[in-house]
Amino acid sequence: MSNQNSGRMMDRKNFIKISGLSTLALTLGTTGLPVDFLTSTAEAKKQDEAKLKFNPNGKFKIVQFNDTQDDERIDRRTIQLMEKVLDTEKPDFVVLNGDNITGGCDTALEMKQAINNVAQPMEKRGIKWAITYGNHDEDSTPNSGLDEKDMLKIYMSYKYNMNQPGEKDITGTGNMNLLINDSKGKKAAFNLWLLDSGRYAPNTIAGQDFEGYPTWDWLRMNQVKWYYETSKSLEKRFDRKIPSLMFIHIPLWEHRFMWYGSVDGRTAANHETAVKKHNIVGERNEDECPGPINSGMFSAILERNDVKGVFCGHDHINTYSGNYYGVLLGYGGSAGFGTYGLSGAEKNRLRGARVFSLDENKEGVLAETHMVFAKDYGIDLTANDQSIDPAPLKESVKA
Ligand SMILES: [Fe+2]
Repeated sequence: MSNQNSGRMMDRKNFIKISGLSTLALTLGTTGLPVDFLTSTAEAKKQDEAKLKFNPNGKFKIVQFNDTQDDERIDRRTIQLMEKVLDTEKPDFVVLNGDNITGGCDTALEMKQAINNVAQPMEKRGIKWAITYGNHDEDSTPNSGLDEKDMLKIYMSYKYNMNQPGEKDITGTGNMNLLINDSKGKKAAFNLWLLDSGRYAPNTIAGQDFEGYPTWDWLRMNQVKWYYETSKSLEKRFDRKIPSLMFIHIPLWEHRFMWYGSVDGRTAANHETAVKKHNIVGERNEDECPGPINSGMFSAILERNDVKGVFCGHDHINTYSGNYYGVLLGYGGSAGFGTYGLSGAEKNRLRGARVFSLDENKEGVLAETHMVFAKDYGIDLTANDQSIDPAPLKESVKA
């Protein structure tokens, strides 16, 4: 898997400029998917792009669920948490930001059931949603035979899912952006970047291994360039910068720098200074785990000045966010009771989700973000296994 990543990075270095429908046609035309699938997907994209819009009061709410990370026998409390959050917050859009499922699915059917478990809370409520991929989403692939592209087709088959095949000639699966129109439905008021931050670093680069370094993946320069060029073309199309949020599974190095307000200083005093400087709120219970290479994405974001926040997961027991040089950086915690958490009896104390409130009348549009926790909904936090049989699998087709 790691060497494939390396090869893919070399093979896909040619960047294809993005602009309008011609790009969509180019992108879809090179996916290798059946024509019917492409046609309906293109239609769905056109319809969906017009569908996301601010409410008549100018507000729009997003919920981020991260690291639900279970197999077909999901812990019942993960579903309970998702349903409580959706019923309480009533979001307009949901992002499942990677490690949506994990290993343990032995067949394609079980993988579909694992996906179905995390799709149903939104589907039952008619809430639009999309996914990004994390490092564990393909852990069942050797047994099930379904890889990220196959899974994306399954996700896209759900009526309220808004994923697209994604940009073909850049690294990763399903890289995309989603525009949200203003309350009048006439022009874009906000944008969402959903990027695949990959899985693991290659075994070697230039004959050198990564022993001693973090071995997670990182956003490749072609993804950074795609963001940069798409951001510029959006500005040209709408004659202004479109404020946005970026969702990636694996954190940036800048997430790691922010907590201590330093690259090398990592003391309590460093952190106290950083809390004041960056307005940091929330908990950090484990090291941030970016890959061994700094992607340059934050530098691109600073230059474009349209991303208001970059939110990740990956590190399940970190829930903080802060303002790092004008861009919110933060975590979504973990919504999955079946995966690792804090140690001992505290294991599930931080199970939760992140809420984003957007207001089209506020400068920057992103008005506020905060975590909500399972403990606030009276969900059982006992550190045990409460996995359940999978729900019946229904075929769900886009309207
Ligand atoms: Fe995870």
